Amino acid sequence: MGGPGNDRCPADRLDIDRLQADLHTHAFGKTLRYISSTASTNADALAYLQQLTAPAAVHGTLLLADCQTAGRGRRGRTWHSPAQGNIYMSVIVVPDPGAKRIGPWLSWVPLFSALAVADCLSGCTELAVSVKWPNDLLVADKKIGGILCEQTTTADRTPAIVIGIGLNINAEADSFPEELRPGATTLAAEAGHRLDRVMILTDLLPQLEQRMDRLFHEGPSGMIDEFTRRCSTLGKTVRVALEENGIVQGIAESIGPDGCLCLRVTSDPSPTLPHRLLEVRSAEVIHLRG
Ligand code: BTN
Repeated sequence: MGGPGNDRCPADRLDIDRLQADLHTHAFGKTLRYISSTASTNADALAYLQQLTAPAAVHGTLLLADCQTAGRGRRGRTWHSPAQGNIYMSVIVVPDPGAKRIGPWLSWVPLFSALAVADCLSGCTELAVSVKWPNDLLVADKKIGGILCEQTTTADRTPAIVIGIGLNINAEADSFPEELRPGATTLAAEAGHRLDRVMILTDLLPQLEQRMDRLFHEGPSGMIDEFTRRCSTLGKTVRVALEENGIVQGIAESIGPDGCLCLRVTSDPSPTLPHRLLEVRSAEVIHLRG
């Protein structure tokens, strides 16, 4: 289902007909809600889910926009979303009621979504795209994309997840607000040419669908090694701003069984004590040294 949107940013519209013709997935993107401009595709997906009473039918629904006026980022931040050939998308995931043990595996959804995106972008561009734990997409240690997963329940109390993905593809580097410029880049700037968003989406959606199907039917264990190889945080000295315990510094050692980051803390006050291993589940991570 395509739609004209309210056309506040008509330049460089996605070619939805070509996307639908070229897309080979079972569910992801089969129902497509395209709008040229919206506040936030995640907010739209959550509002849509919350009034639904037949949620299974919407599994895989894709919301796409050319620009967002109030894009949402992690930790309450806004996501800079200009109309310059970037990707702003949200996919609705309603885990199959037959899939077992979904609850304990949910924490892996953001990490394996990032793995799917990194695999896709590396394949499409030959750039080395890595994941900064838990789910930032980096090229040369600069951010080219981010993922915001949000959970909700539908009107009949079925759990659902919205995977929101924002990718800086073709935007002009000088369109970023001043404070973002040192840490952000675009795929086009790194590759040296503009990229075709439809080609990226037709590659990404099957990869994302396969990762989520595997997670909900087999669990995370078969994909943890692949995530570990893509994750540029591991082995680095990092600074971590914890919600409750302030700032700690340490070496990112491994990924734990629920997707947490296991950090060997080096900033404890007593240098005589052995360095403790801290399991980080929700925090802002800054890469310091490789
Ligand atoms: C981050 O802070 O790194 C996550 C950014 C996620 C942005 C995407 S853009 C599409 C979707 N809609 C939103 O409002 N946010 C996500």
